[in-house]
Amino acid sequence: MTHRPLLATVLGERQERPPIWIMRQAGRYLPEYRETRTRAKNFLELCYTSDLAVEVSLQPLRRFDLDAAILFSDILVIPDALGQKVRFEQGEGPILDPVAAETITALKPERALDHLAPVLETVRRLRAAIAPEKTLIGFCGSPWTVATYMIGGRGSTDQAAARLFALRHPDAFAALMDILVATSVDYLVAQLQAGADVVQLFESWALNLDDTAFASHVIEPNRRIVAGVRARVPNAPIIGFPRGAAGNLARYAELTGVNALGLDYATPLDFAGKHLPATLPVQGNLDPLRLVAGGDQLDRRVDAIIDAFSTRPHIFNLGHGIVPETPIEHVARLVDRVKKG
Ligand code: CP3
Repeated sequence: MTHRPLLATVLGERQERPPIWIMRQAGRYLPEYRETRTRAKNFLELCYTSDLAVEVSLQPLRRFDLDAAILFSDILVIPDALGQKVRFEQGEGPILDPVAAETITALKPERALDHLAPVLETVRRLRAAIAPEKTLIGFCGSPWTVATYMIGGRGSTDQAAARLFALRHPDAFAALMDILVATSVDYLVAQLQAGADVVQLFESWALNLDDTAFASHVIEPNRRIVAGVRARVPNAPIIGFPRGAAGNLARYAELTGVNALGLDYATPLDFAGKHLPATLPVQGNLDPLRLVAGGDQLDRRVDAIIDAFSTRPHIFNLGHGIVPETPIEHVARLVDRVKKG
């Protein structure tokens, strides 16, 4: 098989220069994305229309020399596939009809994969469309992060609704997590079989949890997904991104078994050297606002990040998603600097 530098890095091979992709690289900072978006009735239809989703996934690779394409979809297609009502309001983000302890049993895991068939079709077409040396990244949201939206009905800064639900209704919460783990395993296996080289677990809300809750809501479900996927796709390459895990980060890496660890931008650059195994691949971790501001500070931070991780396998990335106001020239400058020094 053709050498894919980003995939090889996930599997533990350090490259001379770090390969790069950008979290949320397909999206609103690109005018061509905004144009394609108007061709779908709503955001979920954009995710489920393969022609449009393939187009949007390819757009950032036409502009920049990125080492990977990421499947265009969203973490909330899983609740949608389970039969929960999900909609995306302009300017408001996602809104869901919240699940309650009594309504968990009404979710329909048996139909989820059929509902997601168009996304798998997008994966197949993308692998055929991108150059052989580019890595194709699939993904899903991790169960806790998806559950915070399913229970709270929208994004929140403290995830209080989901944290309280887990404490007040432990059995219903466990049942919900079981459904999300099983559905995520099926979905990721299907993505890998359709041609994804690597899958990433987005645990965007790994903060605000005490160590007991972190162990049960974050580590255990992610560990079960990694084990469940690998039972069906041996050695499946998996990146874990537990945003905000801070003091729990090293434990997460050790106990989940992910191949590579995504670091958010608040993780100090000397953290990996002090607390992570020397061979563990890491991904990250530029503050997206540095990319908005651009200029010298951007160049200096990019160099510092590359330097800090120069002895281990490293995939350059932002420490969270790119924001819509990012100037396109700054992205071009970043990619150039990472690739050429
Ligand atoms: O990375 C990519 O380019 C692939 C596509 C992708 C999207 N969402 C498209 C999207 C991926 C990987 C995601 C992941 C996602 N979705 C996460 C985890 C990563 C993170 O940023 O923490 C989360 C928490 C979501 C849930 C979600 N979807 C929110 C909170 C929002 C609204 C706010 C926002 O970030 O735009 C979305 C909508 C969404 N998902 C958009 C895109 C391009 C914008 C929709 C639009 O065009 O109006």
